[in-house]
Amino acid sequence: MDTEILRPAAHADFERAAQLIRRGELVAFPTETVYGLGANGLDAAACARIYEAKGRPSDNPLILHAADLAMAQTLTCGMPAAAAHLLAAFAPGPLTVVLPKAHHIPDIVTGGLATVGVRCPASDIARCLIRAAGVPIAAPSANTSGRPSPTTAAMVEADLAGRIPLILDGGACVWGIESTIADCTAEGRVTILRPGAVTPEMIAAELPGVEVRLDAALTAVDAVPRAPGMKYTHYAPRAPLTVYAGTGCAVAAALREAYQRCIEAGGVPAVIACRETLAALSDLVSSARIYDCGRRSDDAGRASCLYDALRHFDDTEVTSLFAEGMVETGLGLAVMNRMRKASGGRVVWV
Ligand code: TXA
Ligand code: MG
Repeated sequence: MDTEILRPAAHADFERAAQLIRRGELVAFPTETVYGLGANGLDAAACARIYEAKGRPSDNPLILHAADLAMAQTLTCGMPAAAAHLLAAFAPGPLTVVLPKAHHIPDIVTGGLATVGVRCPASDIARCLIRAAGVPIAAPSANTSGRPSPTTAAMVEADLAGRIPLILDGGACVWGIESTIADCTAEGRVTILRPGAVTPEMIAAELPGVEVRLDAALTAVDAVPRAPGMKYTHYAPRAPLTVYAGTGCAVAAALREAYQRCIEAGGVPAVIACRETLAALSDLVSSARIYDCGRRSDDAGRASCLYDALRHFDDTEVTSLFAEGMVETGLGLAVMNRMRKASGGRVVWV
């Protein structure tokens, strides 16, 4: 199958993409977090194609994307008060709420769970597509299962060319990291299953009197996560990754040592770090072996280039990746969650 890449401009472009969705085909589209691989969320056969195209385990549920709050409301058999508050505060935006599922949602969407993840994306292209399709769109990230999520149309193409008919190209995603997932199904409690740009602090500030906590799997190594997808190896670059986190000077020293040791062992190392750290290594590391994530203080910039960084050395001779971590507050919590998975847990605090 040929994969067309289209920068949608006119109404007719959205109508064509929407027709594919209504016919049960797959369309990749941009959101403000990452690119999604979309299908009609009410069509079980169309959703089955998502699992096939991604090579995704079938027990890993999909999230449904709604054009607006009215459509989101139709996807649950009872909107919990906390979810209604969070959607009023953060939708459209990078937040997915887990709700009791409406009966008409196919089991394949939810992996057989009684709950469904629902998100109203803020991206204009995503909203126009959902509106034109007239149905909620089921969409996981548009990568091959296990690979870093795509934040540009070119990254989608690298993973899925030949397997889907159409990629809508909206340029680079604003956040570059997947939505926060907040389980709102328990009375009086909201559990963050996956950290994202809507931080636990922001959620707690909207919900006085409600307990806001992180899923145990985000902090303990041996706990089973409640978002099924969080248990899989994820976001992995082709070369093994080790992450060093801590203060700037200590991280630069640790990266220097790891880089030198790798060369001594006959390997080809590369470094992913913020500009200040790279400056401290410029005597040792050549410019071809670095990925510059921008200034240390620019959390949003560092988050948005994470997946590009993780894919950057894939088609090179690099054998080992060494990356600088972030402090685990705000967006740093989401970045470190993804880095922990991408490195298979090789995070060294220095
Ligand atoms: O930002 C995003 O959320 C992107 C864009 C495309 O919207 N989508 C995305 O989808 O990241 P995906 O499938 O790559 O990740 C969704 C995560 C998975 O870990 C899945 O297990 C979890 O959400 N999930 C989905 N439905 C759930 C449910 N009912 N209960 C718990 N976890 C759920
Ligand atoms: Mg994903």
